[in-house]
Amino acid sequence: MSRFAAESSCLPATPDALRALIEQRRAVRRFLEEPVPDAVLRDCLEQAVLAPNACNLQPWSFQVIRDAELRRRLGPVCLGQNAARTAPVLIAVLARPDTWRESCAAVLDQWPEPQVPEKVRHFYERTAPFQYNQGTFGLRGLFKRALYGVVGLRRALMRQPNSHAEMRLWAVKSTALAAQNLMLALQSHGYATCPLEGFDEVRLRQVLQIPRRAVPIMLLAAGRAADNGVYNPRLRFPLEERVSWH
Ligand SMILES: Cc1cc2nc3c(=O)[nH]c(=O)nc-3n(C[C@H](O)[C@H](O)[C@H](O)COP(=O)(O)O)c2cc1C
Repeated sequence: MSRFAAESSCLPATPDALRALIEQRRAVRRFLEEPVPDAVLRDCLEQAVLAPNACNLQPWSFQVIRDAELRRRLGPVCLGQNAARTAPVLIAVLARPDTWRESCAAVLDQWPEPQVPEKVRHFYERTAPFQYNQGTFGLRGLFKRALYGVVGLRRALMRQPNSHAEMRLWAVKSTALAAQNLMLALQSHGYATCPLEGFDEVRLRQVLQIPRRAVPIMLLAAGRAADNGVYNPRLRFPLEERVSWH
């Protein structure tokens, strides 16, 4: 096993424990008033950012909203949904297609060994900027798309992201994984969550002063579940309808 494989002092996870955690998580729409302690939030955010992510550029940020007045203002922004109105904390989960450049520099700056391996340096100084810089009005992206179209006739290539829209998708993938980690971490502390995409994005941006190029992918409502917090029994389609085996 690689010398980097196990950097945790935690007990090994068991399949049963993980299944229990995943099964216990439900979307909860009503919460008790009891606040979620900052230490718990911090622990859960630490676990959120352990999510796998594209090129380890960690294209996400979070706004933790505990302030009662700010939460009150977010109620109507979330279309009056009970989850947003009753949760003692809301966490805005933002995908950040706009931070790759500083993250490349940060990886090299914060590399956890005395020397940055040459391959790593080359990747973050050359390869990543080529992949992620779409240029003014996305013109570099258009050029790359054409280039890949030609080079791709001869060999397999990673062809995306080549536009600002594809950069958003790129960031959203990693950020959604962090959001799931966050929900499961909160669940492990006994706190329920509800992911919310039902909000007015324009108003959300105004209230939280979200940077222009950040993408608010969801708000997580979190807290202790009220008795009537889960609205419906669990429903999932049969696996056979959604999985093909090759
Ligand atoms: C991206 C996303 C957005 C969601 N938005 C809302 C929402 O705005 N309001 C809501 O009540 N539930 C929302 N949900 C929760 C889903 O409705 C819920 O996860 C789904 O019905 C399955 O139920 P379960 O999570 O309890 O298994 C959202 C879930 C996801 C993943």
